Amino acid sequence: MAEDNHKLFKTALKQISKGIIITNDNNKIIFANEEAKKIKNISQTELIGKDITSVHPDDTQNKIKQIMNSLQQKNVNQFTTIIANQDNQEYLNTTYKLLENENNDYIGTMQILSDKTSQIKFEEEKAKSLHKLEKQVDTLNEQLQDLFISSMTSLVKTLEAKDSYTKGHSLRVCEIATKLAEHKHDVSTEIDKIKLAGKLHDIGKVGTQETILNKSSSLSDSEFNHIKQHPIMSEEILSPIERFKPITKMVRHHHERYDGTGYPDGLKQKEIPLGSRIVSIADSYDAMTSNRPYRSPMNPKEAVREIKENLGTQFDPELGKIFLELFYEGKIEE
Ligand SMILES: [Fe+2]
Repeated sequence: MAEDNHKLFKTALKQISKGIIITNDNNKIIFANEEAKKIKNISQTELIGKDITSVHPDDTQNKIKQIMNSLQQKNVNQFTTIIANQDNQEYLNTTYKLLENENNDYIGTMQILSDKTSQIKFEEEKAKSLHKLEKQVDTLNEQLQDLFISSMTSLVKTLEAKDSYTKGHSLRVCEIATKLAEHKHDVSTEIDKIKLAGKLHDIGKVGTQETILNKSSSLSDSEFNHIKQHPIMSEEILSPIERFKPITKMVRHHHERYDGTGYPDGLKQKEIPLGSRIVSIADSYDAMTSNRPYRSPMNPKEAVREIKENLGTQFDPELGKIFLELFYEGKIEE
């Protein structure tokens, strides 16, 4: 009966779909089923009697010795690892189990092997494809955002071209704002954003009535309230695009005043984003020196005097001083 059971167990182990290798207490292989031989790509005769360490790839043998020692000393009951065969790029998942007799003496180990090569390669391919796809999406996203920026820039140009008074205004504001940002030493990472804010700050004027924009007489309260909506509109137009997120607040607040009496939110001093404080100076200087329907252009020196007189009220005094330095050094186009 015992012999029948022994045969039955052996047959079961032979037919099991996972690779099974059994070692004795000297780490010598005493049994290996068909699947184990297939996975190890080694014949029965070559396996039986061999030290278990020797049937592993050279660069993994130390690791296997450590595992076998841990099992022998009963530090662990089992250990699972994935062993990569560098020569043929195969991956083997192996669980090493401690075998004990009824007196709890170490009598050997059983290794359960499954070939993970195709699964791991599939995972690797999947990760590679995903990475490639992510890069493609990033590139497309960049292209889309570039396209959006150029469309917005064209829209601003078209808006300004319709009106001889504001033609080229945003580009000039962008240039002055960039110079100011470049001379403020701690904003180097912000320069690109400030540049864009300078270029697109008035895009919300697309929603302002032309009759009000071009009115040569003074504005009524309701007309002025209508004009005051354009920074909010600028923010709304730009906010759906991820790359514009850092500049939406810059455009929203370009008409705030340093003393808190500006619009749309009455922010004051450092509550106003740095980019807005910079654009505000550039915007005011260009507006003052340009021809407007309601007045003739101011002489640059007069405009600069106006800025100087309004440091601390309308303009950030520190940024205003940088602007004045740049102007006196001839770095601001008159
Ligand atoms: Fe504006």
